[in-house]
Amino acid sequence: MNRENKVVIAGIGGSLRNGSFSKKVLEKARKLMPEGSSLQLADISSIPIFNADHLREPSAPVVDFRNLIDHSDGFLIVTPEYNYSVPGYLKNAIDWASVPNNVFAKKIGAIMSSSTGMIGGARAQYHLRQSFVFLDARILNRPEVIINFVDKKINEMGEFVDEIAEKFMRDLLNNLVFEVKNQKSLAR
Ligand SMILES: Cc1cc2nc3c(=O)[nH]c(=O)nc-3n(C[C@H](O)[C@H](O)[C@H](O)COP(=O)(O)O)c2cc1C
Repeated sequence: MNRENKVVIAGIGGSLRNGSFSKKVLEKARKLMPEGSSLQLADISSIPIFNADHLREPSAPVVDFRNLIDHSDGFLIVTPEYNYSVPGYLKNAIDWASVPNNVFAKKIGAIMSSSTGMIGGARAQYHLRQSFVFLDARILNRPEVIINFVDKKINEMGEFVDEIAEKFMRDLLNNLVFEVKNQKSLAR
């Protein structure tokens, strides 16, 4: 929690491209965060390809990313789907955050996926969930937020808009903040 006692959630994902649809979903999530919480977006665009030779002196973008996760109360990932799985740059960032010590351990997290296809990135989302089993993060199961045909859900202002998806997003974000608060109070 930050100085104003607000729950701080790290927001990770989107693709690296300008105009990324999943980045627009992440931006919408930022606006839907429940009162008393905020989403702080990670910048993973400059994280180098993982190389264990550099673990002792990781580059600044890696340090920043690890610190953001470490100092946040929980995390939210919005992933697109590449070739039925997690995009390489996102998996790469997660790999950097997992060694030499795993900053995701015991953290409560939520995952959303979006794609231009009919399955809404569900396959990528489940691959990602599998990684977080090994990382011992506490990923929420419900509601599932899987946004298909995402390119058809962008308004003329360039914002993601979809009434049904937004309801699921809001519910998942409420659950995330609720669980984070529970975890904090139980730890006291
Ligand atoms: C390399 C690559 C692989 C893709 N593979 C899939 C896929 O397996 N399933 C899917 O639904 N969409 C796939 N797509 C389409 C993406 O869903 C679409 O490009 C989406 O807009 C990417 O997310 P972004 O808008 O945040 O960049 C793929 C796109 C790329 C560039």
